[in-house]
Amino acid sequence: MITGNEIRRVFLDYFAKNGHTTVESSPLVPRNDPTLMFTNAGMVQFKNVFTGNEKRPYSKAATSQKCVRAGGKHNDLENVGYTTRHHTFFEMMGNFSFGDYFKDVAIEHAWNLITKEYGVPEEKLLVTVYSEDEEAASLWRKIAGISDDRIIRIPTTDNFWSMGPTGPCGPCSEIFYDHGEDIFGGPPGSPDEDGDRFVEIWNLVFMQYEQIDSETRVNLPKPSIDTGMGLERITAILQGKHDNYDIDLLRTIIDASAHETGVDADGNDAISHRVIADHLRSTAFLIADGVLPSNEGRGYVLRRIMRRAMRHMHKIGVKDPTVYKLVPSLVQMMGTAFPELARAEALITETLKLEENRFGQTLDRGMRLLSGETDKIGDKGTLNGEVAFKLYDTYGFPLDLTQDVLRGQGQSVDVEGFNVAMEQQRSAARKAWSGSGDLATEKVWFELQERLGGTEFLGYDTETAEGQMLAILKDGEEVKSASVGNEVMVITNQTPFYGESGGQQGDHGLLFSAEGAEVTVHDTQKKLGNVFVHIGEVVRGEIKLGNALEMKVDVARRTAIRAHHSATHLLHEALRRQLGDHVSQKGSLVAKERLRFDISHPKPIEFKDITVVETEVNERIRNNAEVKTRLMTPDEAIKEGAMALFGEKYGEEVRVVSMGGADSSTGSGYYSTELCGGTHVRRTGDIGFFKIVSESALASGVRRIEAVTGQAALEYVSTQEVQLSGAAAAIKASPAELEGRVTSLLEERKRLERELTDARRKLAASGGSSSAETEFKDINGVKFAPRILEDVLPKDLKPTADELKKQIGSGVIVLIANTDGKASIVVAVTEDLTSKISAVDLVRAGSAALGGKGGGGRPDMAQAGGPDASKAPQAIEAIEALLG
Ligand code: ALA
Repeated sequence: MITGNEIRRVFLDYFAKNGHTTVESSPLVPRNDPTLMFTNAGMVQFKNVFTGNEKRPYSKAATSQKCVRAGGKHNDLENVGYTTRHHTFFEMMGNFSFGDYFKDVAIEHAWNLITKEYGVPEEKLLVTVYSEDEEAASLWRKIAGISDDRIIRIPTTDNFWSMGPTGPCGPCSEIFYDHGEDIFGGPPGSPDEDGDRFVEIWNLVFMQYEQIDSETRVNLPKPSIDTGMGLERITAILQGKHDNYDIDLLRTIIDASAHETGVDADGNDAISHRVIADHLRSTAFLIADGVLPSNEGRGYVLRRIMRRAMRHMHKIGVKDPTVYKLVPSLVQMMGTAFPELARAEALITETLKLEENRFGQTLDRGMRLLSGETDKIGDKGTLNGEVAFKLYDTYGFPLDLTQDVLRGQGQSVDVEGFNVAMEQQRSAARKAWSGSGDLATEKVWFELQERLGGTEFLGYDTETAEGQMLAILKDGEEVKSASVGNEVMVITNQTPFYGESGGQQGDHGLLFSAEGAEVTVHDTQKKLGNVFVHIGEVVRGEIKLGNALEMKVDVARRTAIRAHHSATHLLHEALRRQLGDHVSQKGSLVAKERLRFDISHPKPIEFKDITVVETEVNERIRNNAEVKTRLMTPDEAIKEGAMALFGEKYGEEVRVVSMGGADSSTGSGYYSTELCGGTHVRRTGDIGFFKIVSESALASGVRRIEAVTGQAALEYVSTQEVQLSGAAAAIKASPAELEGRVTSLLEERKRLERELTDARRKLAASGGSSSAETEFKDINGVKFAPRILEDVLPKDLKPTADELKKQIGSGVIVLIANTDGKASIVVAVTEDLTSKISAVDLVRAGSAALGGKGGGGRPDMAQAGGPDASKAPQAIEAIEALLG
């Protein structure tokens, strides 16, 4: 039997043989489109190539693209488990022509590959075309020899493909496979088309237009081709299965799930195993591409997928974290085709385990609540929206998880009601998703890049260079000149200024023209990977297009940034060694004053680990070995053990930075090796000194470390020292004695506070004189002890009353404390009298006299308050009157 991995290979080889460049799958988080949540088709990475805004060195390409369709325009989450052919994660194999060939060649390739290379019998195939596209129908007849009755014309958007609300689009033609009459379903366009008998396997999109906004559609510069064939669907056909979930790529995980849970893969719980297998794939691939579960945007879609998988585990009776145990089966199956999966295995496992533990705590209780409710609402009933919201809010059940549970029972959720209950949380969620913030689609940069080419960066070797001024922008528009006071963006043919990227901040500095103009640069940005934009103000004279500029980077600032960047690499390696391989970079900021480094790690980093890491980094700094930079292909670099950022897109050649000197545990002869485009010190000794200043939580599963080096580290330590000596001097101790002295002062203070409280109570109990015998009045044979207290806190009234009760034996006690003019009153009645006298009645009378209302407690002890403590004598009289 041909394997899924072989089927992918045959596809890519076929197109390579036919002049297509094999291009790697792009990350699931699109780099070039802020409107898209996940890469949902093979063409996403080529979007700007279709529109002509980006040039590549090839005009024909083929990929097997990892895709996630969950959230956004193309969303298959709800269908998973209920059909044989939907997945949240799948691979889309595609061939692309960027203005090269068009419909005829696309049809020919597709037909050849399917019928000859893959050997699918022609009579099992039929095709659809967009009803307005008679040309496509006649090409199918001519090239493939298909009879007209097997060409179905579809008038709907099913045969007009677009990636999202905007972007390249066009009519399409789909190839369908007939799984045979013993499977339910009708041909495309028929009422039963949603059945599993006729399955779409390959979509050929004749890209002709670009959707600019909802009203505007323009022609692409050149007609192009985008195709997509689901690897899982064609594999099902070639492996003789009717069901995608029976193919090797998925079955391996389903078998692992059955094995780990001890629950039959094909019995009553078959659906759950499928959902788990599908969701494991999206989870693992998303994490490998840098997404972590969270409560907003992409992270929330991932969390929903993970929790749905966990719910199915729970459904088949498995209560302990188990999904994470299936990771090896996936990595074994797909880790060769997608090495990022193997590299991220530790992180995937850790993240799953953490989420399983966290959700596990509420899942069971939430399910019990839900099943109580579903029993009540009966068959086909609707669950109250507020209950669904409670499940969401208190038990962490995403709405679609609740719906998934109910759907299995023919029930549904009152979504309207859920939304109403959700409204408050909504505004926060809305704010959270506003696109990826990637500026790559800004048109002006594309145009400039196209016209001027990229900027050559000279700053690895020099901090001063000359450059030719190629463009000046003022208020976002191109201008020919700019004068004093103008904020400008300047693009030159080459520059020593580093453009912000990889967390390293852009350079500052000065630009001078031979004519005497001067620009202060306060930021440098890098657009579209290679257009360096100097942002600053003209402070003298006038700059003109075509001027040659002398460009000077602020060297002191750059030197400090270099030290922080190199220290970041050493820190990264030291953290991995100390905490484990699951540590991966989640964010980084390299500035003049400090460095900030975010890593995936599920819990706070202990102080002892921080100390080990700090010591190790400083050792590596002191050994002062040379920092080595090499350019290699990404493959070579990874072989060298370079830490690549998951999900980053790297070019043909990558820069590999190694440092820290020889190390017995790494084969490469360096302590740290990373892919990095940043600027670094020459020898680690240039970093000087490294100090971690803080460690905190950034998001769930992500820790943030801040550190300083060199001069900044020295300043940090000096400041600490000044603060320490100041604190020590204030209590007349030396810094070394400080800890001991502060501890004993605190103990002393606690003891004194206790003594003071005791003394106050005693004083209060004795009616205000510290020595005299306690005085009682006699009212109708009941002992009565009223006290007005100035120095007692309201919280001490009850303990004081208890003490007085002991002294009085039998009687009534009234204590009124005056706190800044407000009164607190406590009345206590000894047990023997509570059948006749209630402290609650008395305290109410007292409170009323104090201008208050109410009061409460038990017959033997009650308390209240009042706004006017000056009425304390009247309050006592009122109580006395009740006793009399
Ligand atoms: N982009 C096309 C699709 O996703 C091929 O169906």
